[in-house]
Amino acid sequence: MKTERPGTPGQTYRIAAIPGDGVGAEVVAAGRTVLDALAADSAGAFDFAWTEFPWGCAHHERTGRMMDEDGLDRLADFDALYFGAVGWPTVPDHVSLWGLRLRICQSFDQWANVRPVRFLPGVRGPLRAADEHELDWVVVRENSEGEYAGLGGRNLAGRGPGGEVAVQSALFTEVGCERVMRYAFDLARTRRHRKVSSVTKSNAQQYGMVLWDDVFRRVAADYPDVETESVLVDAMAARFVLRPQDLSVVVASNLNADILSDLGSALAGSLGLAASANLNPERRFPSMFEPVHGSAPDIAGRGVANPIGAVGSAALLLDHLGRPAEAARLERAIAATTAAGVLPRDLGGTATTADVTAALVDHLGDA
Ligand SMILES: NC(=O)c1ccc[n+]([C@@H]2O[C@H](COP(=O)([O-])OP(=O)(O)OC[C@H]3O[C@@H](n4cnc5c(N)ncnc54)[C@H](O)[C@@H]3O)[C@@H](O)[C@H]2O)c1
Repeated sequence: MKTERPGTPGQTYRIAAIPGDGVGAEVVAAGRTVLDALAADSAGAFDFAWTEFPWGCAHHERTGRMMDEDGLDRLADFDALYFGAVGWPTVPDHVSLWGLRLRICQSFDQWANVRPVRFLPGVRGPLRAADEHELDWVVVRENSEGEYAGLGGRNLAGRGPGGEVAVQSALFTEVGCERVMRYAFDLARTRRHRKVSSVTKSNAQQYGMVLWDDVFRRVAADYPDVETESVLVDAMAARFVLRPQDLSVVVASNLNADILSDLGSALAGSLGLAASANLNPERRFPSMFEPVHGSAPDIAGRGVANPIGAVGSAALLLDHLGRPAEAARLERAIAATTAAGVLPRDLGGTATTADVTAALVDHLGDA
């Protein structure tokens, strides 16, 4: 563990950085550089005190654990957590994900996962419409239950080869559905297009998803100023491609939102662009900010990872810390960087992680 505490006066935000595995280290380093540049330019108004935790698959190989036993206690007092990605071929994915990222999200009740989909100037996405319309929408993902509740088990292996069974149950509670839907409606009220689209699959999943629909109708009645619709997940996948301009806030269960937000960022140009916030809206625990992508073992260590998803997540972190002006400044720097044609390989360019980071820092001066 390494702590650096810059000495400037003003407000100091204590941030725990957990780079994790693969490109996680590269993109978190880029995000820290951009955040520190913003702080250095704040005339002493704020700065960041970083504490880095070396948890992840390499830690697991050394210790048999993805994070230290007292890790959650050590994270609990930070203002926010800045996360890279977890997962490496040396540790089974369900062990690495449940041992670190999902452990933090569940223990800190980060029940709303906010994932903006943003189409950037200069990035040629596969959607032609992106060139004609201003496209951005937000996926609000239920982040504490649903299909990722971790309920179930494996049994009957004793029957011999081919005889084992597994049950993986999805859990839907009224409380869980209602709080994430209210979050989505409140968010819609802050946007130009006041609309919430609920993603369902109640035609096939007649218990959990029917409860989801019932709660959505009940919550919607409290927001008569917000337009609503309920769309089956398969139809919503098609809508992301065919009529994205109709979307503003999309609220969905854990698995459905996970899949749809990857689709959204791929349509915007690359998974490397997508940002996310795991929020505990009551602020009883620190919230965690991370790019949507994984550890990308295929490109890790080569200095070519796209840091924009991690830097966009840093903008969400600033917003959460009550600094919306600085968050907007970061968003503008991202758009100015792509508009200037400084694009990493996943967006068809040749810029390295360091080139993109330097351009982002330069464009902070634009505002
Ligand atoms: N939140 C998380 O920590 C998280 C999320 C997804 C996957 N994972 C883990 O990551 C590992 C790899 O999974 P995967 O390959 O399915 O998904 P991935 O997101 O790591 O990679 C998918 C594809 O996107 C590319 N990509 C991802 N991030 C990029 C970036 N910043 N810049 C440029 N290209 C980028 C990769 O090169 C790859 O081709 C697995 O162990 C998986 O469990 C972790």
